[in-house]
Amino acid sequence: MNGTSDLGFIHHFVPAADSARTPLLLLHGTGGDENDLVPIAQRIAPGAALLSPRGKTLENGMPRFFRRSGEGTWDVEDFKARTAELGDFLTRARTAYAIEKPIALGYSNGANIAWSLLLKDPDALAGAVLMRAMLPFDPRPLPDLKGLPVLILAGSHDELIPVQQAGVLAALLGEAGADVTYEVLPSGHGLTTEDLKLAAEWLSSHGAGSPRG
Ligand code: MLT
Repeated sequence: MNGTSDLGFIHHFVPAADSARTPLLLLHGTGGDENDLVPIAQRIAPGAALLSPRGKTLENGMPRFFRRSGEGTWDVEDFKARTAELGDFLTRARTAYAIEKPIALGYSNGANIAWSLLLKDPDALAGAVLMRAMLPFDPRPLPDLKGLPVLILAGSHDELIPVQQAGVLAALLGEAGADVTYEVLPSGHGLTTEDLKLAAEWLSSHGAGSPRG
């Protein structure tokens, strides 16, 4: 199914070819859309159902999942409201497509709304892969993340995101009780084959082969 705007977000849905795999919620980076992460997801989690919404905010014509006034200067009100809106979409889409709770696979702006959703509703996701996420403010108080598996992939010379922020995010999610794996790769903001290899391995060892309700 391609480009439907039903359920509140323009999105792309790919039904499972392998129903034993946990579905993935794909969350693109700034300037991406609902198609961006589909080939990557098909490579690292073949056969998984894919639910991929397009961010509703436009920045100079580029879709994003929430507003900001500059790099790292987020509109926190909008961030929170858009997180709730994405959570509502996920609830509707899970019913409409009859899919299990997904693991989020988010890149950059999409990774940021993914951790926000984890903190807002610890029951919304079965886990998360956060690629090039950032943490420009302290989101405490934290919920109980109850052992939720999270993989954080950062780039040591990311030109947009200070790598220390990914480290603080990893520590914070760990403090909230998540089962965090934190990897720093010798790369920049863009994804590399090493990211995809680590994400594929993590997905197969953290439930991508066994759906969680
Ligand atoms: C964001 O605004 O979410 C981050 O700066 C990542 C980005 O989209 O560049």
